[in-house]
Amino acid sequence: MSILITGAAGFIGCNVVHRLLEQGHRVLGFDNFCRGSCSNIETALTNRQFSFERVELAELASFEAAARSFHAFEPITEVWHLAANSDIPAGISDAQVDLRDTFMTTFNTLEVMKRLGIGRLAFASTSAIYGDLKGAVMHEDIGPLLPISNYGAMKLASEALISAAQESWLARAWIFRFPNVIGTPATHGALLDFVRKLQRTPGRLDVLGDGTQQKGYLHVTELIDAMLHIRERAAEPLAYYNIGADDAGVTVRFMAEQVVAAAEPGAAISYGEGNKGWVGDVPRFFYSVDKLRALGWKPRFGSAEAVQRAVQEIVAQEHCV
Ligand SMILES: NC(=O)c1ccc[n+]([C@@H]2O[C@H](COP(=O)([O-])OP(=O)(O)OC[C@H]3O[C@@H](n4cnc5c(N)ncnc54)[C@H](O)[C@@H]3O)[C@@H](O)[C@H]2O)c1
Repeated sequence: MSILITGAAGFIGCNVVHRLLEQGHRVLGFDNFCRGSCSNIETALTNRQFSFERVELAELASFEAAARSFHAFEPITEVWHLAANSDIPAGISDAQVDLRDTFMTTFNTLEVMKRLGIGRLAFASTSAIYGDLKGAVMHEDIGPLLPISNYGAMKLASEALISAAQESWLARAWIFRFPNVIGTPATHGALLDFVRKLQRTPGRLDVLGDGTQQKGYLHVTELIDAMLHIRERAAEPLAYYNIGADDAGVTVRFMAEQVVAAAEPGAAISYGEGNKGWVGDVPRFFYSVDKLRALGWKPRFGSAEAVQRAVQEIVAQEHCV
């Protein structure tokens, strides 16, 4: 197949690029480098099966022109839409950020697909669409869905738009809802933040919140396994699945201790107050992956092992910079 990946230079996007190339697909990547970087796709660029364009996806005309010129020679058969804002606090201070990077990129992806007659869409959604359910288990059919961040709101609106498109012209859509994905090349997230903080202030790690926030973590390699499994096995034309660790997760305290042990043993960890890292953060959630398990997939690593692996990888990544 010939597959377009939006957000191809980002953390998850570049890993998806590599995996789809390994599977023998022709891959086209779009990104504007607002949070991703060219170095993330350096290796892929040496592969003749990969093409890349720097494109602002929130501008329909340039997005369509770039897709159309590729499509004329090599018809695009499927799109993986991964571009979005990944800085949730930035989207809370300025609502334009998620309107542009999380919602309009989805709106335009659908518009371009419709105009070019591309009928298959894989979409990176998020647990943030569920909001803070105060202890209730997040399973796919719970409601009402009341996100508490602009990011979550714009992802939920994106899901709604995909659902409407599927009703009229989109042949297949896979909506993947995932919580915290870790690994390299890390572009954001608590682990990267901790490693960089330790580099800036050696001997001391300041943690936002009291360290009791608890979440499930999935390694990026496993996330991609799960997405491919769903794309292969789910029969529904509009398939929506939670993807996550099959456990109660680990605390921020555990993550801070792992980073200190790997990067600077003996550094002092100082915690803040309250159980939220930032406004819009869901401090503790219970994520159901029963639907995915019923489809025949479960992760090999638990959250703790995923964190331990990612810490080693991110520490190595940052020492290489
Ligand atoms: N990493 C996680 O834990 C996580 C969790 C849930 C959902 N997701 C979703 O997975 C997807 C990938 O996330 P990631 O962690 O790789 O983030 P990332 O920031 O590393 O990647 C997103 C990429 O999209 C690009 N992008 C953003 N706005 C753009 C625009 N207007 N035009 C062109 N390119 C644009 C960025 O430059 C970046 O390379 C996103 O949709 C994100 O919402 C990620």
